[in-house]
Amino acid sequence: MTITRIAGAGVALRDVTAGYPGHRVFENLTLNIPGGVFTGIIGGNGSGKSTLLKTIAGLIKPSNGEVLVGGEPPEEARSFLGYMPQVSNVDWRFPITVRELVEMGRYQFSWRSRLGRLLRTREDQMAIERAMELMDVLDLRDRQIHELSGGQRKRALIARALARQPRILLLDEPSAALDAISDDQLFDVLCDLTELGTSVIMTTHDLSTVLEHYAEVICINAAEGGIIAQGDPSSVLTEDVLRRTYGRELAIVSRGDVHNGSSDGHDHHTLRLGDELQLHMEDHEHQEGHRHGPTP
Ligand SMILES: Nc1ncnc2c1ncn2[C@@H]1O[C@H](COP(=O)(O)OP(=O)(O)OP(=O)(O)O)[C@@H](O)[C@H]1O
Ligand SMILES: [Mg+2]
Repeated sequence: MTITRIAGAGVALRDVTAGYPGHRVFENLTLNIPGGVFTGIIGGNGSGKSTLLKTIAGLIKPSNGEVLVGGEPPEEARSFLGYMPQVSNVDWRFPITVRELVEMGRYQFSWRSRLGRLLRTREDQMAIERAMELMDVLDLRDRQIHELSGGQRKRALIARALARQPRILLLDEPSAALDAISDDQLFDVLCDLTELGTSVIMTTHDLSTVLEHYAEVICINAAEGGIIAQGDPSSVLTEDVLRRTYGRELAIVSRGDVHNGSSDGHDHHTLRLGDELQLHMEDHEHQEGHRHGPTP
């Protein structure tokens, strides 16, 4: 079979000011995300990654500026936009099955949303089944969503976003909490989708995968004015950029000289960037007791 690459749909933000009531996250943000490629959004906790995806998905209305998704305002783009929210932002007590959750992805925002199940076509049926199959949740389809494990919840939410067969796929931290097999499977699915022209835009905390899988990386830090850097990961991810992105103390350590854990009582993060560079980050927030709960 010959795969025909189609020009993917991109995303453009012009002078966007957006955030929450009483809390502005971005001011005059201008950004172009190319179509048809794999783009990663990286940044520390609270840097604005989820807010940016919600703004692109049309769930947050900017107070100023313009957002275009595949050339359309977000509300006009919903038929070809798939969105997976961050798992922690979803109310899992909602009494629906996995299958119903995935079906919602197919019909949500469409005029068929209420009548979706009644008017379901063969094409809908196949897209829903295919999405569940790709994310390996077919066996879970009759389970209530509150019964699922963390990784299963993630796979069900990704399946919901895929069910629409979107031209633009927004994924908020899809890979954390997936086991190695599910993670590889996810990247295989996403790479196949970009081959077919889908634009995949996803947030991640896993820098080790960025060099391997992403064509484009966007480093954000809302506290430092928004976009720190954008482009090809191998040229963008320098120590200086990562320092400004994460705003924490960062030191390069030599290959093989990485130590995890807290021999000196501090919390350390090691960022492995391909084989060339490993970065070691000391988390002062945690040290100062600002962060609550267990450290991932
Ligand atoms: N619903 C909300 N109401 C008010 N402020 C919010 C809300 N959600 C997020 N914020 C604030 O907006 C800022 C950006 O948050 P956002 O969720 O976009 O960060 P993030 O980069 O996705 O972080 P994480 O890595 O923890 O998911 C933070 O200061 C956060 O406290
Ligand atoms: Mg987030």
